[in-house]
Amino acid sequence: MNMTEGRVLDRDRTSERIKALGPWFHNMNLEGVWTAPDHPLGDYPAMKWKRFSYAIPADLSGKSVLDIGCNGGFYSIEMKRRGARRVVGIDHDPDYLAQARFAAQTLGHEIEFHQLSVYDVARLGERFDLVIFMGVLYHLRHPLLALDLIRAHVAGDMLVFQSMQRGSREVNAVAEDYPFAENGIFDRPDYPKLHFVEKRYAQDPTNWFVPNRAAAEAMLRSAGFVIKAHPEEEVYICRCGTQLEDAAVYPPRGAAR
Ligand SMILES: C[S@@+](CC[C@H](N)C(=O)[O-])C[C@H]1O[C@@H](n2cnc3c(N)ncnc32)[C@H](O)[C@@H]1O
Repeated sequence: MNMTEGRVLDRDRTSERIKALGPWFHNMNLEGVWTAPDHPLGDYPAMKWKRFSYAIPADLSGKSVLDIGCNGGFYSIEMKRRGARRVVGIDHDPDYLAQARFAAQTLGHEIEFHQLSVYDVARLGERFDLVIFMGVLYHLRHPLLALDLIRAHVAGDMLVFQSMQRGSREVNAVAEDYPFAENGIFDRPDYPKLHFVEKRYAQDPTNWFVPNRAAAEAMLRSAGFVIKAHPEEEVYICRCGTQLEDAAVYPPRGAAR
């Protein structure tokens, strides 16, 4: 077998494996084979990454990264490409983790992938220099709890956050307090709102709470993050700030783990 034939064989094997591991949400080029060439959002998430990649340090040498809801591993791999010392990807879905492991291995990156829910991040037992929490919040039935837990247990410095947003994009400062008789404030488009999806949105039964822009920002602040940059419509770069006392006591103190 000559080299060209060998390459064709490798490509065929990669192609078969990609097919067996599918369907993929992350479109990546693995040895010349695309994992999700017909993605309804286009070349996703590369097209999104291009819009905010400049806002994340280009050199992550020496840094640790946690990618929560890592899916097929696109962002974990990009962080490794930026030289991160250690990258850990977690997801609750074993099928996505299998994709992520295959992608990282094929591209020659050493990344740890664990099956773990965002609600269990305390089990990791460490803080990371950079935490990525992208595209997960609206899939959760307990979104603020997840942010509280991230802040309490794993966020060490920087958080890269993204959520689908719907409703008004207006944002205005809210007052410290409002009288009980104040009603109109809740009808204002710029008031933080989480839209509850009782049935389905976009045919996806895992969409639960979709924030408007004001709510996405207010929830980040409320969980103890300081918004430093907003490089893309849905993406926020945050630093750790002060967390409300006892905001994330979960499981309750004294409960068996
Ligand atoms: C829309 S995808 C986003 C993937 C990737 N972070 C991105 O931005 O392209 C949502 C991911 O979150 C994962 N996920 C949903 N609920 C989760 C949970 N409770 N804990 C960990 N991962 C979760 C899903 O399995 C899926 O891989």
